[in-house]
Amino acid sequence: MNPAITKSSDKTAGASPAGVTLVDHPLVQHKLTLMRRKDASTNTFRTLLNEVSMLMAYEVTRDMPMQSIEIETPLETMSSKVIDGKKLVFVSILRAGNGILEGMLSVVPGARVGHVGLYRDPKTLTAVEYYFKMPQDMQERDIVVVDPMLATGNSAIAAVDRLKELNPKSIKFVCLLTCPEGIAALHKAHPDVPIFTAAIDRELNDHGYILPGLGDAGDRIFGTK
Ligand code: URA
Repeated sequence: MNPAITKSSDKTAGASPAGVTLVDHPLVQHKLTLMRRKDASTNTFRTLLNEVSMLMAYEVTRDMPMQSIEIETPLETMSSKVIDGKKLVFVSILRAGNGILEGMLSVVPGARVGHVGLYRDPKTLTAVEYYFKMPQDMQERDIVVVDPMLATGNSAIAAVDRLKELNPKSIKFVCLLTCPEGIAALHKAHPDVPIFTAAIDRELNDHGYILPGLGDAGDRIFGTK
């Protein structure tokens, strides 16, 4: 069964923790439209991705646990809330995930960072791991996996499979774009992992690209084509 889709503008967002949250904030949607355009330069694409990632970080951290600490304002002492960013790990699926990482880190600078290197076998479209480096004490941490495109779902599933071996407290998945096939695949393999996305496009093509999509996210971020 497909997961429930909640719009972030819906006041009940967060009610289905293992569903899909569609981040439909006008700023996110506007920037995504500019990124999709084939004539957007590498610089423009990267800058916009950075900005969208910051905005998406607000949604994905909405339910982060907080604690109260005593502070002194210029006038008196008070108890005020802080988040424990050090418990959060952003895991970037290389290489395109790094395009989201920077924006997320500028909003949560205390977060730790892990990297998973996966490439898509062009024939089978399956994910092959070539790198895996995580912070210590993963069993105490909440993980946010980042990859701009949730397409076949193979990379996301492989990354989450590996991360679950480390027994983290929780795992969320953030992408810029996905499609029904990607959502169904990730949800089937990992129904406990909530997905955050800025858009759900029509379909995948035979080469594993999202339509209408934005092309190859890695190439567009790094200007490699
Ligand atoms: N990866 C991309 O970069 N683009 C797609 O459309 C699908 C997967």
